[in-house]
Amino acid sequence: MKIKRTHHCAELNINDEGKNVLLCGWVHTRRDHGGLIFIDLRDRAGLTQVVFNPENSTAVHEQAQLLKNEFVICVQGVVRRRPPGTENKKVSTGEIELVCESLEILNAAAALPFEINDDKEVNEDLRLSYRYLDLRRPGMKKNLILRSKVFKIMRDFLDEKGFLEIETPILTKSTPEGARDYLVPSRINHGQFYALPQSPQLFKQILMVAGFDKYYQIARCFRDEDLRKDRQPEFTQLDIEMSFVDEEEIFTLIEGLFLKIFNEVLGRKLERPFKRMSYDEALNRYGSDKPDLRCEIELKELNSKLSACNFKVFEKAISAGGAVMAIKVDGAAALSLKELELLTEQSKELGAKGLVWIKVLAGDYQSPVKKHLGDELLKNIAQHLQAKPGDLLLIVADTKKIARSVLGQLRLELAEKFGLLKKDSFEFVWVVDFPLFQYNAEEKRWDSEHHPFTAPKDEDLKFLDSAQDLSRVRSRAYDLVVNGVELGSGSIRIHRPELQTKIFKILGLGEEETQSKFGFLLEAFKYGAPPHGGIAPGLDRLLTLLTQSSSIREVIAFPKNQKGVCPMTQAPSDVSARQLKELHLTIKE
Ligand code: AMO
Ligand code: AMP
Repeated sequence: MKIKRTHHCAELNINDEGKNVLLCGWVHTRRDHGGLIFIDLRDRAGLTQVVFNPENSTAVHEQAQLLKNEFVICVQGVVRRRPPGTENKKVSTGEIELVCESLEILNAAAALPFEINDDKEVNEDLRLSYRYLDLRRPGMKKNLILRSKVFKIMRDFLDEKGFLEIETPILTKSTPEGARDYLVPSRINHGQFYALPQSPQLFKQILMVAGFDKYYQIARCFRDEDLRKDRQPEFTQLDIEMSFVDEEEIFTLIEGLFLKIFNEVLGRKLERPFKRMSYDEALNRYGSDKPDLRCEIELKELNSKLSACNFKVFEKAISAGGAVMAIKVDGAAALSLKELELLTEQSKELGAKGLVWIKVLAGDYQSPVKKHLGDELLKNIAQHLQAKPGDLLLIVADTKKIARSVLGQLRLELAEKFGLLKKDSFEFVWVVDFPLFQYNAEEKRWDSEHHPFTAPKDEDLKFLDSAQDLSRVRSRAYDLVVNGVELGSGSIRIHRPELQTKIFKILGLGEEETQSKFGFLLEAFKYGAPPHGGIAPGLDRLLTLLTQSSSIREVIAFPKNQKGVCPMTQAPSDVSARQLKELHLTIKE
């Protein structure tokens, strides 16, 4: 049979009745009804039912008896209306079937390690080992088709706005984004290494110097860091950079893009402008610089309410310059003592010294520290948090940083448990006014909060000159946060060599190190660097959100598992002694 597909397997319907067609695909299921054999033939697009009738051709019917799941076949025949009562209204091809006249088995398939459907939970490493089978499952197929669609929307949108897509090198020099580099030894240049880019950051800035004032790239980034469910060692960004822009122009561009994606993919109309929130406000109210605004629970500081309190735990924290902070969880007074004990243990694991809980009851309070605090203070606290009977109050006394971070995490966990997260909602927020530096107490030095190329706010430039004031310098960085996930991050950049040199110095880079790592950038800045800025939304995280997947691995064709291994190819793997020799490398046992 000459294999020339006439249709795909989701295309035929009642209007094609009587047509002679040729389909190719995989045997999804086979049902043998004594005389008649039915198969569902599957390709990327969908399913078509094929019938083999011994009365039409015994030879073809005999061949059909050999078919097993996932055999690859080609069938030619005539489309007919299914007999009344046998239609399947759930699929587009459910009113017709193909009566097979000739069949060719193009390839056999061995017994499968798991079924090609979404119904059964399959061990993830097994799925990744046979990813090609896993990707045949409808859910995974849908995710990859959506990914492709989203990429096309982005390309069309940016193209229309005059952006150019430009590729930047993969074999390059280290670009600091806060992770370890993946290194690639150079055979030709003995003893030297390329680094895989943690992002195209320096190249996109240099493209601005080169005059390409609107750049984008769907860029692969590589970071050797601990993996989590929203992190992969290689991942994809929509990398964007523009010249002669301020924050507002970048926000407008990105909001427009996200409006379009959410509308075209989910039929959802997002509201613009997106909310904005300063870094300080995010931490004070939500205990995180990635606030999940689907949850209304807010952190409240109690310091001013506690002046007359003689509970040592609270007194000590306040007099040490820390804070006593609280959250109220509606309806959570239902938690048992055992559950509250677990919550206390968990708070300790998160870094707190303990956890005070107060159950607000009708006309009474229950708390292990009721005696210490007294009814009057309990009432004050409950009023301050606008608590009603049935609510639970949780209090942490510690440094501001720890109190915020612990309550910020408990807030989300309890909101989830008590159904207090707004359902089916996408809460976008721009977090702005980040500090430029974070003090790294372990190493006794200042680190960049974002990356070293982020511009300080003009009005804070005056704080750069004294070490005491460095924590006051705010940056022109912004994060796009959705439902508690950092979806993208960017900034207006430094474009003057003097300021960039000064920042490197504050970050503790010596002159020699600055030259060897970033000399090319400083050199480029000498030759007319325009003011510029950009952003990079993480596309795997965006797709995870759009598909409501449980992990980033569900939207990547060939991801690594949590150990950084690809179970299908077994990468990373040993290399031959000869390869090592050529690279002048030896592996120490
Ligand atoms: P940043 O390092 O914040 O910024 O990264 C931008 C976005 O990339 C995504 N992302 C990741 N996704 C999956 N796995 C990872 N390991 C991972 N790491 C980051 C996140 C994040 O918000 N060059 C700057 C951008 C700029 O300033 O323009 C940068 O890379 O969604
Ligand atoms: P203790 O005085 O250590 O027995 O603690 C009394 C109660 O206060 C216990 O319920 C502890 O969990 C709680 N607690 C202790 N330290 C803190 C703290 N820093 N913040 C909040 N609660 C605490």
